[in-house]
Amino acid sequence: MGAGTPRAGATHLRALRTGAADVLDGNWTGTSTVPSRRLYPHQWSWDSAFVAIGLRHISPLRAQTELETLLNAQWGDGRVPHIVFNPSVPLDAYFPSPDFWRSSAAGRAAGAPRTVQTSGIVQPPVHALAAWLVHRSDPGLSRARGFLARVYPRLAAWHRYLLHRRDLGGGGLVSVVHPWEQGMDNAPSWDAPLARVVPAPARSFRRADLAHGSAEDRPTDLDYGRYVRLATDYRDGQYADGHGDFAVEDPSFNALLIASEHALAHIARELGASATARHARAERLTAALVDRLWDPAEGMFLCRDVRGGEMIVERGVSGLVPLLLPGLPREVVGAVVRTLEGPHFGLGTTTRLVPSYDLLGEAFDPHRYWRGPAWFNTSWLLERGLRLHGRTAQADALREAALTTALTSDFAEYVDPYTGEACGATRFSWTAALTLDLLHHHVASTPKGGDRG
Ligand code: SER
Repeated sequence: MGAGTPRAGATHLRALRTGAADVLDGNWTGTSTVPSRRLYPHQWSWDSAFVAIGLRHISPLRAQTELETLLNAQWGDGRVPHIVFNPSVPLDAYFPSPDFWRSSAAGRAAGAPRTVQTSGIVQPPVHALAAWLVHRSDPGLSRARGFLARVYPRLAAWHRYLLHRRDLGGGGLVSVVHPWEQGMDNAPSWDAPLARVVPAPARSFRRADLAHGSAEDRPTDLDYGRYVRLATDYRDGQYADGHGDFAVEDPSFNALLIASEHALAHIARELGASATARHARAERLTAALVDRLWDPAEGMFLCRDVRGGEMIVERGVSGLVPLLLPGLPREVVGAVVRTLEGPHFGLGTTTRLVPSYDLLGEAFDPHRYWRGPAWFNTSWLLERGLRLHGRTAQADALREAALTTALTSDFAEYVDPYTGEACGATRFSWTAALTLDLLHHHVASTPKGGDRG
């Protein structure tokens, strides 16, 4: 459906736009969007940010509402919870449910809200970036509703929480304390730090995900036992930070924080304040990211196991995501692009979309959640990074591949990176939303301009 095939393209483009909008309409609850009606029936934090980025093309008002609903569940200490529970969904529809997290009781000291139930962990901070992009799609509506003025203090508090309470390694970067926080739940990078965690007994909890997804596509029971143990310990410690067995500095999580810090600078300027301090902080964080997580020999960023005190030598897509940062040294950009196109990720040669994990890695599995399949959000982030750094042809090719695969997989949650075969849920919200965003820029043909800023 490239620019060279406008007729065939026009039909595809229409089908994509209608199909994507239909997915988002079907998953809309009135105040936010569920990632998937059956597998994920509540509001998820980073999903909502990606959803807002796409929704802005069909309803800037819904996109604003999506982010505001999430931010209304923010805790007093600034954390934005990874799940906001919908009280009308039965408890057994998703595990861990509100009665596991007990946010309003166990999270009282951390300022959990009383009127809404949430989880107690966080997810990647894509929200300020999303808020800025949503504003840019309809500045008139945004100003009339005071959108940025309302979300700015909340986003600033969110970043403050991460930077002040989660610098567990002492080097200026944020640590995640649970694999669910980083979002790539069962990535092989967590295997070593998770091996130290004693799993919760299998009989002590009941997974709900296997009722809606094939077991081969999902994390294993052993992984789940460890996830449950970490979350239980965090909860039983009243969600106070700094004590848990798991603390990892992750390149993607930190890169998204940095991209969002740049976005907060733009928001500050729009609100008449100075952007300088925020841009400067983003640059300092970029330097810390390179200093602490860049591995020149691997040509990519790695995770740092803060508790174990060493780098984790696993090649995951997370280690390529920093490509979306404007302040990355030129040689780092060149090396990341080479890694993306090389045998470990195969972009432009063996794979259709960017795999979540090293094609040649021992743990590679093309179907199992974050151990190989390609996800649309990471491809969206890398498309953005390639374009930002002037790799226009590669960015165009990745965009085309993502659009085609979204259509043929019925907006799958993730796909086999070689074949594009659908895995996990279909009609997945962020896949539909990011399709709309890629489509918008495809049609507008404004590689560097418009609201991509
Ligand atoms: N991604 C996790 C799940 O599969 C939790 O956010 O439920």
